[in-house]
Amino acid sequence: MRCKLLSTAVLAMVLLNACSRPATTEQQSVDTEGSKVQAAMQEGKDYHSFANPDEIKVTHLVLDLTVDFSQKVLSGKVEVEFERVKENARHLILDTRELDIHSVSNNGQAIPFVLKAADSFLGAPLIIDLPPEIDKLTIAYTTSPKASGLQWLSPAQTAGKQQPFLFTQAQAIHARSFIPLQDSPQVRVTYEATIRTPQALLAVMSASNDPQTARDGVYEFSMPQPIPAYLIALAVGDLQFKAMGERTGVYAEPALLDAAAAEFEDTESMLIATEKMYGPYRWDRYDLLILPPSFPFGGMENPRLSFITPTVIAGDKSLVSLIAHELAHSWSGNTVTNATWRDLWLNEGFTTYLTYRIMQEVYGDERFAMESVLGQQDLQADIDSLPDNDEILAIDLRGRDPDVVFSNIPYEKGALFLKELEQKVGRANFDAFLLNYFEHFAFKSISTEEFIAYLEQTLLKEHADSLSKARIQQWIFEPGIPEGAPVAESDAFTVVDDARNAWLAGTLPAAQIDSSEWVVHQWLYFLNNMPDELSQEQLAELDGEFMLTMSKNNEIAHSWLLMAVNNWYQPAFTRLHEYLVAIGRNKLVKPLYKALSQTPEGKTFAQKAFAEAKPGYHPLTVKANEGFVQ
Ligand code: BES
Ligand code: ZN
Repeated sequence: MRCKLLSTAVLAMVLLNACSRPATTEQQSVDTEGSKVQAAMQEGKDYHSFANPDEIKVTHLVLDLTVDFSQKVLSGKVEVEFERVKENARHLILDTRELDIHSVSNNGQAIPFVLKAADSFLGAPLIIDLPPEIDKLTIAYTTSPKASGLQWLSPAQTAGKQQPFLFTQAQAIHARSFIPLQDSPQVRVTYEATIRTPQALLAVMSASNDPQTARDGVYEFSMPQPIPAYLIALAVGDLQFKAMGERTGVYAEPALLDAAAAEFEDTESMLIATEKMYGPYRWDRYDLLILPPSFPFGGMENPRLSFITPTVIAGDKSLVSLIAHELAHSWSGNTVTNATWRDLWLNEGFTTYLTYRIMQEVYGDERFAMESVLGQQDLQADIDSLPDNDEILAIDLRGRDPDVVFSNIPYEKGALFLKELEQKVGRANFDAFLLNYFEHFAFKSISTEEFIAYLEQTLLKEHADSLSKARIQQWIFEPGIPEGAPVAESDAFTVVDDARNAWLAGTLPAAQIDSSEWVVHQWLYFLNNMPDELSQEQLAELDGEFMLTMSKNNEIAHSWLLMAVNNWYQPAFTRLHEYLVAIGRNKLVKPLYKALSQTPEGKTFAQKAFAEAKPGYHPLTVKANEGFVQ
């Protein structure tokens, strides 16, 4: 623990008051049988932040940071502006993780603070002893080279191989590893930033980006709309910009720029389609940033500038639903935000529902149907494997690391719930409801309970004949998929089922499967629904006919490599090794590591790949997979 300039008496008091989280979460009571039960969860309480926004709320940040690639640190200062919610509040509590706090001051006057001991995944509360009259202060600090929210890439790990690259990934609770702040999605701030970089590089942020800015190594940003901390984002690299439409464009390394702009050229149409259904886009520009392949997610909805994995640049727009998804977050997530990580389904379930709708609008019914079926299959796979408690939309995350509890439940179960509501009240009525919802809660962070209350006052009242409170409770608070839920179907998959079944029955050789017209989704459906066990001959036949080991589509390659691991089909293993070393996106690599870890030979293979890949993996990819190779 570090302690500066704080009198012993104040320190003792602060330590008693601070970190109310453990005191509240671990409160135990005794039930009638005498056993200990956990205290009831407090609605809307953020169990993943030490901050005290109910007493003092941070409203604005002014960052001035230098990006030091040689030390792998950000250093500089943040000016924190705040409002007193409780007039007599004495302490401002901020979240931090592995930050080196140099000073806290106001107008050059030092302010006492203490950095408490760190919790293993929540980080350490920074407790600042506030003089009564001030409403802002400045914190000078340096990040750790191991900051969980930053990835520092050497030139060799980039497409251009000449310049280093840095990017942030703050969701869910990693903003605190690069800025001391109230790292809770219920606290919204506006921000300004000055970012100082090596001169050849460009910095971009989840804020106003000027594509024409002079490349002089000093970049200014402002984000005038209030956003939660998890949406603060920065990337620095050899980036260039290409416009795709009036309000849309793409930032990428030069080697990827044209391919990315071509792949995602429909972004402007998606934006227009979404506005037509759900009301105005409130964030000015919508640009994409293409990251190096180590980016641990498919995409991240950083406002005005979604961060995107390069693994979806397939050459045929087959994986662009990811763009629809990140764009949709501009409504569900960024405009209306989950109040806590328990309410993540309000972000991801609404966004997944919107994604399907945008895809239908822009690419038609068939694509919509196929993507709906594939999504529902992903959901079913999770329902088959997760414990009951992890199948609940409003999940109890107390004492758990949100990074570890990642699944399709908030996404696909959330979307299916909304689809049922849509089917019961009719699409036009449901669209009107959503449009009003985004308007009603714009720039607010809401809990599951607030959503339910709103639903009850609106849709449920208007459609009391077709909706019931009990059914809604079942969807949100019970495990599994409620009986009678909508079932997605796609005619385009019927021919695929027929082909697979005939091939498995031995009546149709692979060479005679008429797949010349199949699209990527059909291939995914073909592979994902194969039985767990196939013979070496069967795998070799498929591979010989369809060149699956060499597939350039990263999703198809993933499905195939998973089959190869599960059946120890060695001809695919060179590719498997390359794939694991080249890609850091968890959705693509984690199932492969997991499958490999099931056998001793598999584990040895995984250990080798992991050891080679680890220097290039993001901290989150390391954390998600290291357990499989130990
Ligand atoms: N916001 C998420 C990513 C995220 C969620 C990061 C929770 C940390 C905690 C992003 O919008 C997302 O859902 N990405 C998906 C995209 C997919 C569902 C289309 C991904 O990365 O796979
Ligand atoms: Zn999402």
